[in-house]
Amino acid sequence: MHKVLVFTDLHILPEGETLIGLDPAARFSQALAHALDNHGDAARIVITGDLTHNGAPAEYARLRTLLSRCPIPVSLMLGNHDRRAAFSAAFPSMPRTSSGHYQQMHDLKGHRLILLDTLDEDAPDRHSGWLSPGRMRWLDNALLGAGDRLITVFTHHPPIDCGFPAMDRIGLRNRDALTDRLRAHGRTAHIISGHIHRSISGNAGGLPVTIFKSPCHQAPMMLTGNDVHLSIDEPGAYGILLLTPSGVIVHSQDVGLPATRPQSYAPR
Ligand SMILES: [Fe+2]
Ligand SMILES: [Fe+2]
Repeated sequence: MHKVLVFTDLHILPEGETLIGLDPAARFSQALAHALDNHGDAARIVITGDLTHNGAPAEYARLRTLLSRCPIPVSLMLGNHDRRAAFSAAFPSMPRTSSGHYQQMHDLKGHRLILLDTLDEDAPDRHSGWLSPGRMRWLDNALLGAGDRLITVFTHHPPIDCGFPAMDRIGLRNRDALTDRLRAHGRTAHIISGHIHRSISGNAGGLPVTIFKSPCHQAPMMLTGNDVHLSIDEPGAYGILLLTPSGVIVHSQDVGLPATRPQSYAPR
């Protein structure tokens, strides 16, 4: 069994700046420390985009510092708050495709992780996601070469609506083209996404989808309203994927709750 840790929507800001009174870098540091203390045996960490809040060089530099001592390999993905040029300057060794997109695949025995780049810097609404033909061709080849491995796909923009009207308007615009390909291939065990800032699970045309919370600010549990910026200070979280011979098990670990110890309720 392999373990993969997932963080999403870090929204790192420059030193001294806060979001709804929270320091995203401090919140991510706390979550990363928790993950390394408890899951140091993980094979990889995947961070599924919105690495920074403004895509600014100072923010990527701060993220680089935060990750500099991480002993587990880290794969970075882009979200709508990121900017490809600034990311590229800060992380020049992060793998990218011949079309210049940050897509990666990693094989673990019996499994293939496929990380997609859904950032559309020319999106008409500035924040929705898109997988261009070049990115789809790369995906086709990644699926073709997977053999009988089980596939876990990572996207920043989830391929499902979530019931939050403001976020659903800035989702993955060509989600059907993605899920049609994955269904046709037939070996996708799970899709992992971010973007919404809430723990959500669902189904994209028969494919299981899990969305994780940010370590920092969350979307309020309001199924009405149109304010995409509305956020709430609730505990952050990260994901723990267990890749087994038959599939993928998904856990979400909250961070920042009051410290407690496990207690037995068995009669003494
Ligand atoms: Fe985000
Ligand atoms: Fe996002």
